[in-house]
Amino acid sequence: MRKKIVAGNWKMNNNLEAGIKLAQEVLEKATGNEEAQIVLGTPFIHLNKLAESIVGKKGIEVAAQNCSDKASGAYTGETSAEMVKSTGVNYVILGHSERREYFNETNQELAAKLDLALTNNLVPIFCCGEPLEIREKEEHYAYVKQQLTESLFHLSANDFAKTVIAYEPIWAIGTGKTATSAQAQEMHAELRNHLADHFGQELADTCPILYGGSCKPSNAQEIFAGADVDGGLIGGASLNADDFLAIVNSF
Ligand code: PGA
Repeated sequence: MRKKIVAGNWKMNNNLEAGIKLAQEVLEKATGNEEAQIVLGTPFIHLNKLAESIVGKKGIEVAAQNCSDKASGAYTGETSAEMVKSTGVNYVILGHSERREYFNETNQELAAKLDLALTNNLVPIFCCGEPLEIREKEEHYAYVKQQLTESLFHLSANDFAKTVIAYEPIWAIGTGKTATSAQAQEMHAELRNHLADHFGQELADTCPILYGGSCKPSNAQEIFAGADVDGGLIGGASLNADDFLAIVNSF
């Protein structure tokens, strides 16, 4: 059976104290018997503290929200995959649409980030998804498949087997507008077929594909019911421990 994952994406929210408090609340309220792997995607400043106090407890994992496409050197303000790993966390979110849009991340750069993440034993949660105008032109399948082709298809089978994908239609992120469960399932199935064409059915069948975009306690169950929907990447609702855990418990 495929691993189920619900990952929070705090984005640029919570200072050090507030982040520790929120993570502690999630830890306290989690039962440890959740059907889904819980991952907290936090700003860099929280990683080391949470690696020490949270990672591994009740199975909870922590993710960085980015890493550099360079291994090391004179890149002021950047944080490498090796540095992320050295904090003690095991996951990294890569290619979120906000990073693609505001920081001009390209599929090619993301391919380099994936390589560095995997070399440093981080599990990448690779984000993909189309803007509204692409969906309106009905080019969304081709657009998202191309994101996977250009960033993932150079990976070895071994590395691909460690990779998690998050499909996030950009028009659904932070807008309160979710994809319908049918739209999510259709895209996830398309992506899995695309992965199967390249990596083979068996590997494609083990790849968790998460849905992201205005996922909340009231719609998570319906969205997660899709056969190819293996969990969620949760923005706004991950800032509240009860809402986040309600989503985690929606399987
Ligand atoms: P949202 O964000 O849940 O607030 O829509 C999702 C995301 O950007 O990962």
